[in-house]
Amino acid sequence: MKKDFLKLLDFSGDELYAILDVADKLKFALKRGIKNKPLKGKSLGMIFEKSPTRTRVSFEVGMYQLGGQALFLSPRDLQIGRGEPLEDTARVLSRFLNGIMIRTFKQSDVEKLAEYASIPIINGLTDFAHPCQVMADLQTIREFKGELKGRKLCYIGDGNNMANSLIVGGLKTGMSVSIGCPDAYRPDKAIMEFAEQYGDKFCVTSDIFKAAKDADAIYTDVWASMGMESEAAKRMEDFKGYCVDQALCDVAAKDVMVLHCLPAHRGEEITADVFEAHAKEIFEEAENRLHAQKAIMLMCMGK
Ligand code: CP
Ligand code: NVA
Repeated sequence: MKKDFLKLLDFSGDELYAILDVADKLKFALKRGIKNKPLKGKSLGMIFEKSPTRTRVSFEVGMYQLGGQALFLSPRDLQIGRGEPLEDTARVLSRFLNGIMIRTFKQSDVEKLAEYASIPIINGLTDFAHPCQVMADLQTIREFKGELKGRKLCYIGDGNNMANSLIVGGLKTGMSVSIGCPDAYRPDKAIMEFAEQYGDKFCVTSDIFKAAKDADAIYTDVWASMGMESEAAKRMEDFKGYCVDQALCDVAAKDVMVLHCLPAHRGEEITADVFEAHAKEIFEEAENRLHAQKAIMLMCMGK
């Protein structure tokens, strides 16, 4: 059966660790100049219905480093943009490509693409999930903290795609996860139900100081995600105070690390001083997109 990478809910903790181990090995090899081309001759199509910086560049460079090529496919230049059904696009592209990375709005569209395609599909972000980002995040936390098991991951802000994926990735790899968000912006219902089985290893609260207490890592993301631009003004009001600042970091563990998937809005979800104080972790996290996604592509498209 083909292997897709659609959401972290589809993977066991052991499978996530296997990807992280490969990501670490690939990072180590790259730093030492060791070249290996396991995806030689293979092509990845990248469909972006929302604009990327990190995702496009890291997939494109990653595919090149693995010996393959990546094609940037903007919906504006595809027949999808003129209404060609996903079912047909999936079956046509499967005849040319060895894998597709898609960034779009609805998770159901990614699942549908995977259903009709005979090649692996990788989720490059939907409104529901951002699983590639979270693999890079887990890699970064493990790099800085030594291990994930027993660590506390705190997320502050909107219960969005990032929160959904961090909850699943964090809990499955043995961390406890706390979410500090306004009551009206809690994570997805299916994710909340999934998290219930982890008992007191999971908590959601509108009290950000409670959420951040003794955290080993504090994570945040924008208040208005891509596609929510029309809600930006209301969200600016609703999220006031849901900001990672020094006072919040002070209640966390002494050596707390701060993460952000980027792009960041300084003065909104994170203060400029906290961002700069933790730039080392944040930009390592950005770099790890490359290594984590190479591991994902190998799992999906390798032999
Ligand atoms: N973090 C992330 O996915 O960034 P881009 O939107 O720039 O790809
Ligand atoms: N929640 C953000 C993540 C960006 C990487 C968004 O969906 O826009």
